Amino acid sequence: MRAVRFHEHGDESVLALETVDRPDPGPGEALVRIEAASVNPIDEYVREGSVSPPSGLPHVGGSDLAGVVEAVGEGVTAVAPGDRVFATGLGISSPGTYAEYAAAPVEQLAPLPASVPFREGAAAAMAFATAWRALVTRGDIRLGDLALVHGASGGVGHAAVQVAAAAGATVVGTARDGEPAAFARELGADAVVDYRSDELAEDVRTAADGREVDVVFEPQADAHLAANLACLTRGGRIVVIGENGPIAVDGGTSMAAKRADADLRFMSIAASAGDQAAILERVGERLADGTFTAAIDCVFGLDAVPEALAELRSSGTLGKVVLDTSR
Ligand SMILES: NC(=O)c1ccc[n+]([C@@H]2O[C@H](COP(=O)([O-])OP(=O)(O)OC[C@H]3O[C@@H](n4cnc5c(N)ncnc54)[C@H](OP(=O)(O)O)[C@@H]3O)[C@@H](O)[C@H]2O)c1
Repeated sequence: MRAVRFHEHGDESVLALETVDRPDPGPGEALVRIEAASVNPIDEYVREGSVSPPSGLPHVGGSDLAGVVEAVGEGVTAVAPGDRVFATGLGISSPGTYAEYAAAPVEQLAPLPASVPFREGAAAAMAFATAWRALVTRGDIRLGDLALVHGASGGVGHAAVQVAAAAGATVVGTARDGEPAAFARELGADAVVDYRSDELAEDVRTAADGREVDVVFEPQADAHLAANLACLTRGGRIVVIGENGPIAVDGGTSMAAKRADADLRFMSIAASAGDQAAILERVGERLADGTFTAAIDCVFGLDAVPEALAELRSSGTLGKVVLDTSR
């Protein structure tokens, strides 16, 4: 089969499209014929060796897949050949999804409804599993909450807008003015403010007609912690899923946090293998009934994974970058 592997850690130049043996599913695993995958920032951290480096090299990169079960390993009854499935969180302790096939632990596979295209399933997996777990499981989002969703036009952010709206929250997103802001509104954000503002907290307050924020979906905590605290309600929750640098808590920030009885929580999809498939099953149902949409910005083949990752890193991507494994 074709697979994109790396033999050493480094930037995307270490990725190589190779012909390798098709894996055999071991006990508790299913062999999935991958129809579509998607690219995620964690793929880069794993490849660079900065987060959860795989135990053995060479390693197939990639976290998300959508496809069809081809065969099952010993003791597997939860899925059968022919089942449509999707999954995320692969490619960390097991081989990844930039490939035509993957042997995946069955507890990480969720059913993908027949009406949901494989590309949409692959686009949805990491994004919606993260958004759901951050807002629902960790963020305790409630009907009527005011939710602040940062990065509302990106991969996880565009899913978080929809999860928050479906939970009955009023949603203020942050995205650049213009196309990204319009995209976030189309997905269900009630208001959008530009994340580049020097007055972010004030802009959020104005956009929310003076209401304070109950729950924050935070993919870049280093950039926004002080602003989040400045518009947070008493007892509000900030769920951190990412940062691009140190999260500084100076005296002023700490004082604001204490005054607000703020609840700073963290969430990692890598730590959620136990409930991931159950979450994805619910996500699949909502993709099928039209409650959720996984937006696909562009599609690349296995022969262009570095280009797909460059697109992911570039500014202005709306939703997800997907891989068609037949190309
Ligand atoms: N904890 C977990 O389990 C988990 C899971 C998935 C992702 N993450 C993390 O979440 C982050 C986002 O992932 P992703 O897949 O959504 O990436 P992505 O698709 O590249 O989206 C990033 C988004 O952030 C926006 N952005 C850039 N600078 C910003 C700022 N200062 N304030 C607010 N938004 C800003 C970008 O807007 P423009 O394109 O307009 O610049 C883009 O829409 C990454 O750090 C990733 O590692 C964590």
